[in-house]
Amino acid sequence: MVLDADAAWRLVLALRDRPCDRHTAADLTVRPDGGWTAPEPPVPEVRALLDLYLPLAASGTWVLGHLGQSLDGRIACESGHSAALNDDPNLDHLHRLRALADAVVVGAGTARADDPRLTTRRVAGTSPVRVVLAGARPLAPGLRLFTDGAAPTLVIRTAAAAPCPPGVPCVTVDAGPDGAPAPAAVCAALARRGLRRVFVEGGGRTVSAFFEAGVLDRLQICVAPLLIGAGVPAMTLPPVAALGDAVRLDGRWLPMGRDMLFDCVLRQDGPAAAEDGADDERRGLADRVGV
Ligand SMILES: NC(=O)c1ccc[n+]([C@@H]2O[C@H](COP(=O)([O-])OP(=O)(O)OC[C@H]3O[C@@H](n4cnc5c(N)ncnc54)[C@H](OP(=O)(O)O)[C@@H]3O)[C@@H](O)[C@H]2O)c1
Repeated sequence: MVLDADAAWRLVLALRDRPCDRHTAADLTVRPDGGWTAPEPPVPEVRALLDLYLPLAASGTWVLGHLGQSLDGRIACESGHSAALNDDPNLDHLHRLRALADAVVVGAGTARADDPRLTTRRVAGTSPVRVVLAGARPLAPGLRLFTDGAAPTLVIRTAAAAPCPPGVPCVTVDAGPDGAPAPAAVCAALARRGLRRVFVEGGGRTVSAFFEAGVLDRLQICVAPLLIGAGVPAMTLPPVAALGDAVRLDGRWLPMGRDMLFDCVLRQDGPAAAEDGADDERRGLADRVGV
C-alpha cells in the first residue's frame, strides 16, 4: 500500500509520541534516527513530508529556529505586519513544527506585533506549550496567548524585565548579551519542565540570539520571492571582515509552494538529516515497521 499525505503525517505523529515503539505504516521501515525506506517509493509530496518530519519526530531533543523572509531579507514590513509573507505550504509547515514540538518560543516583539495563537489549527496534532521571552517592556495581559486558553502559556523573563501579566506562569532566568533571556538558560528552564523539543518561531532578534548562542540544532529559513524594501530584518549577527568569515551552512533546499525552504543542519548530534529512502546499504540497521 502506498502512503498518502494524511497517513504519512499520522505516522509521523505516532512516532513522535512513542519513539521507543516499533511503528506500523504500510510497509514503511523507519530507523531510530528517522531515516526511512519503502519498497514502493511514495509520491514526491509524501516523500518530502517523511524526509522533513521523521527525523524530528524520532528525536526527543532538538532546538529548531525558523524564519520566513523575503528575497531582500525582511521578515515583516516596517509596521511589523508579517502575515502572508510565505505561501500556504509554509504555514502548514509551521503548524507541523508546532505539532512536533514540546514548546514553541517567540520573542516579545512577535507577541506584541502579531498577537499570535501558536496552535496547530491547520494540521492534526497537539498544540505545544507556548513560551514568550519577555523583554524590557511589559506584555499586554490581553494578548491571545494569555487569554484564549487554547494551550498552556509560559513567560520566561530576566530579573530586570517588566513584571509578567497577572496569572500567567512565569520563570526568571539569566539575561543574554542583548538583555533578553539567555537562550541556553531558556532551553535549560524548558528541559527542566520536560520540554526538550523546542521550536523557536521568531522573530528575527530571537532566532538570531539562539543561533549566536549555539543552541540551535537546525535553522530553517523559508525565502519568498518578495521584495519588501525595508522592514524587520531576518538574521542579524555580528559583522565579519571578509566573506571567508561568514557562516556557510550545510543542509538541503526544498520547494515549499512558491517559496524555497533552506533546512540547515547546525549540529550533527541534533536530529539527523533525512536519508535517501532507497539506501540499501543502511537498510540492515532499520527497524521493520508496518501498520
Ligand atoms: N516572518 C517570520 O518568520 C516571522 C516570525 C515571527 C515574527 N515575525 C515578525 O517579526 C517581528 C518581531 O521580530 P523582532 O526581531 O523585532 O523581535 P522578537 O525576536 O520577536 O523579540 C525580541 C526582543 O527584542 C525586543 N525588541 C523588539 N523590538 C525592538 C526594538 N525595535 N528595539 C529594541 N528591542 C526590541 C523585545 O523586547 P522588548 O520588550 O524590550 O521590546 C524582545 O525581547 C514582528 O513584526 C513579527 O511580525 C516574523
